[in-house]
Amino acid sequence: MDCREARAQARRRLPRGVFEYIDRGTEAETAMSHNRARFDALRVVPRVLTGGAARDLSADYLGTHRELPFIMAPTAFSGMVRHRGDIALSRAARSLGLPFCVATEGLLSIDEIAAASPAEHWFQIYLWTGEENWRPLLARARDAGVEILVMTIDTPVYPKRTFNQHNGFGLPLRYGPRNIADVLSRPLWAADVLGRALVRGGLPRFAHHPRAAEATITGRDVPPMTHQAGLNWDHVAKVRAAWKGKLLLKGILHPDDARRAVSEGADGVIVSSHGMRNLDISVAPLDMLPALRKALGDKTTLLADSGVQRGSDVFKLLHADADAVLLGRAMLYGLASGGQAGVQAMVDILADELDRTMAMCGCRTLADIRQASVERDYIGK
Ligand SMILES: Cc1cc2nc3c(=O)[nH]c(=O)nc-3n(C[C@H](O)[C@H](O)[C@H](O)COP(=O)(O)O)c2cc1C
Repeated sequence: MDCREARAQARRRLPRGVFEYIDRGTEAETAMSHNRARFDALRVVPRVLTGGAARDLSADYLGTHRELPFIMAPTAFSGMVRHRGDIALSRAARSLGLPFCVATEGLLSIDEIAAASPAEHWFQIYLWTGEENWRPLLARARDAGVEILVMTIDTPVYPKRTFNQHNGFGLPLRYGPRNIADVLSRPLWAADVLGRALVRGGLPRFAHHPRAAEATITGRDVPPMTHQAGLNWDHVAKVRAAWKGKLLLKGILHPDDARRAVSEGADGVIVSSHGMRNLDISVAPLDMLPALRKALGDKTTLLADSGVQRGSDVFKLLHADADAVLLGRAMLYGLASGGQAGVQAMVDILADELDRTMAMCGCRTLADIRQASVERDYIGK
């Protein structure tokens, strides 16, 4: 099994609207194809007879030693993939020793998830309009044991995803003949996600919204929470002052922004194009990583994501000098295909693929990956 097969299983299980919400990009989806092409274009020059009998995939970042260089990315709506999907993700993370980043726009709250699963939780924050709306989330996250806050700064406006509107998966969700037929065509999903939610007392809700009790995904009775207009560095300063733990800024691609992030007190940066879901003309994080590492030096944590589907993609991001890699869609395909066990299987698969790639390239550790030779080191020289 690999990520492509898990994706195919997810497609069979999920209503089209939910699958496309997870799977697709934005606008003409050129960022998706570009990002994939950049991964595929990077060719490694393997070394032989140097890999040893076993590889060490462990990574050190943010002051902690971890067995694998993976983090589960924040993904809103995991609860639409499986009933209480965030808890399945968290339990999988716990069993694998990975951090799991809980999303602001999740359908279960950080306190509920932490109570159900003692994993290492990070918390991702979007700043909503009105400080009184987002500030309480920091205290909630802290009380739930979170030490690492991820502030997402790459979504100043809502992206244009016409396919979501066409298939009835815009927000708030609206019922129409198309999405009702879509849901009815996936009875297993409907029984699990909608049926079990209704048995527990109603449609899934946005658990962190100030009026969470009313904030169902159809949003009939509440004004939607809007993201802070004109998000800027003053907002970062406010969050930095209010959060005593470690702070990462997610969604940086320019070296000057990375430098500014560190000068504003961030402990690290997540180099990300938001899974190619926001800006369709975005560069690929893989291409920007070396410049950001040069800007930040070796001491600052640099994480990366967007488009990781294979262990060899992880290899390439590590080679470009990321300390570790966040996994978004891959986890959700695993969640769709097999719940908690499916997520664990997906991580095992990626770890196995990374291990094989390392062996083939003569690398024993992540430090060796960083020293690996790539084609462009030789061409024309
Ligand atoms: C369904 C879905 C929902 C997401 N929701 C959020 C979110 O609420 N906040 C956020 O910072 N990033 C969000 N992301 C982006 C991920 O955190 C991550 O940057 C991205 O998924 C990485 O790319 P990949 O999915 O190709 O691995 C979401 C991604 C997906 C696929």
